[in-house]
Amino acid sequence: MKIIIVENHNELSVLVAQKIATYINHNPNTLVCFAAGDTPLGMLRELVTMQSRKEVDLSSVWYAQLDEWIGLGIEDIGSCVRVMTDVFFGPANIPKERIHLFDGLDPDTNGQCRAMEKWIAAHGGIGLTLLGIGMNGHIGFNEPGTPDREGCFTVSLDDTTKSVSVKYFGAERSVSTGITIGWYELMQARTAILMVCGEAKAPIVKASLKGEVTVDVPASLFQNHSSLTVMLDKAAASLL
Ligand code: PGA
Repeated sequence: MKIIIVENHNELSVLVAQKIATYINHNPNTLVCFAAGDTPLGMLRELVTMQSRKEVDLSSVWYAQLDEWIGLGIEDIGSCVRVMTDVFFGPANIPKERIHLFDGLDPDTNGQCRAMEKWIAAHGGIGLTLLGIGMNGHIGFNEPGTPDREGCFTVSLDDTTKSVSVKYFGAERSVSTGITIGWYELMQARTAILMVCGEAKAPIVKASLKGEVTVDVPASLFQNHSSLTVMLDKAAASLL
């Protein structure tokens, strides 16, 4: 595991974007999977800017959506598809056929999971994944105590995830289930980047990187990833 610490969120966004752009330039046609929380937003905007400067072609790769709130769709402020479309897929002009999304409104969650697994397999597995760490240590919607099984699945959302969700929706919404690419599948990604910022995350960063490897802290499972770079601002790294 490589750990990179920079001064602040802005610097982090630029550095992670540069790393991802370099990867994309060297691996066109690979499959990438980006988290949609608050942490990567600046990085995603930076990638779009880099593309406008012709430093990267973001349509040269394929995309798999990491996770989604069950019951929410593109019309819903704060849904993962809405965030990714508004901040990244739209401004970067990524052709629809390059993107595979979870449909949080489709009651056939099993079908959604199998379709995502097929998409990942058809593109040779995930080349690069950019992940955040939730306040409870979750990765995507791999919540604490996450099932030890392959593929994609639905998960009952942890109370912490439910309370944190208000910041995305701007109001309370009754969300109880998430659909996600599972940690086992993410562990197979050839390159993984964990991006974290802010003092509030310092304790969970410490538990994830220095603590026991346990499904109770899903991010800790990534200590065993074969090619992991953890990229942090100073505040998030303050307890390491
Ligand atoms: P955040 O979410 O970037 O909004 O803190 C992190 C996550 O839950 O993955």
